[in-house]
Amino acid sequence: MLAAPFRNTAIRSFKTVPSMVRTKIVLPDLDFDFGDLEPYISGQINELHYTKHHQTYVNGYNTAIEQLAEAKHAGDVKKTIELQQHIKFHGGGFLNHNLFWKNLAAPKNGGGEVPATDSALGLAIKQQYGSLDSLISLTNTKLAGIQGSGWAFIVKNTENGAIEVVQRYNQDTVTGPYVPLVAIDAWEHAYYLQYQNVKVDYFKAIWNVINWKEAEKRYTK
Ligand SMILES: [Fe+2]
Repeated sequence: MLAAPFRNTAIRSFKTVPSMVRTKIVLPDLDFDFGDLEPYISGQINELHYTKHHQTYVNGYNTAIEQLAEAKHAGDVKKTIELQQHIKFHGGGFLNHNLFWKNLAAPKNGGGEVPATDSALGLAIKQQYGSLDSLISLTNTKLAGIQGSGWAFIVKNTENGAIEVVQRYNQDTVTGPYVPLVAIDAWEHAYYLQYQNVKVDYFKAIWNVINWKEAEKRYTK
């Protein structure tokens, strides 16, 4: 007689375990202090960008994943479909910003130091674009062409080995054959406090703190 309730309890416990142990994503550690990218990106921008904006994507993703688990458990197909957009937006925002922070370095720690001309990345850029300046110019054109919010990525296309510049809207990220080498945030929150409406100045300035060593690492991985 005691076996039945015991069995039910055991089953209930088993079913709750997956949601209890579900791993939540968290903000990554930064390799620099907020003020280290000045004068190119102000400390105030970095602080808000990291502690408020990036944190929002972390929270949004964790909430959406939790809701997805509940919707799946309840067999609510409509809700699972509805949540896809939240997962794409917040998950993309999380990943894009992780790339962005890793792509930046203080000038005292190599920020802005261009790839060596005899490095794998340096040689590929020279061969395809003639010079790093041409690649930067193309990237700035793509960034300036974003209507509203979005990103530009310098990527390696693993299907043909080419280095390409791709533009994405909102928090869409790069997947599939594209390995992101450099990710640049063109949302207003990334520059407005310092550059106001002159976003092209932000796009020009950011190259002074780009971490090309990280790009090289991703290119040769
Ligand atoms: Fe951002």
